[in-house]
Amino acid sequence: MLIIHDRDGARNEFEPVEGKPLMFQLRPMKIGVIGLCNGNAVCGTCHVYVEEKWLDRLPAVEELEEERLAEIPERRSNSRLTCQIEYRADLDGLELTVATRG
Ligand code: FES
Repeated sequence: MLIIHDRDGARNEFEPVEGKPLMFQLRPMKIGVIGLCNGNAVCGTCHVYVEEKWLDRLPAVEELEEERLAEIPERRSNSRLTCQIEYRADLDGLELTVATRG
């Protein structure tokens, strides 16, 4: 189960599919994860803030994601691009907040 808060603070829960990037699973919910570049870490429209306790359990930020995040003014220490995170069973309970577009 994954918890995602939209920009208005509303809490949404859903069961993600394992092995598929989160962006593709969050985009159909229409709560602000847009994914304009279709998962290529170029657009930044899949930007979220990750609940602090989950940060170390996510895959490391690769160079391409870091380059894009560095260009986003709203970036915080807990920013990630959901197109670069595949859901795994050990992420059960992951909590995210949709970020403003960078
Ligand atoms: Fe474009 Fe993630 S979908 S950066």
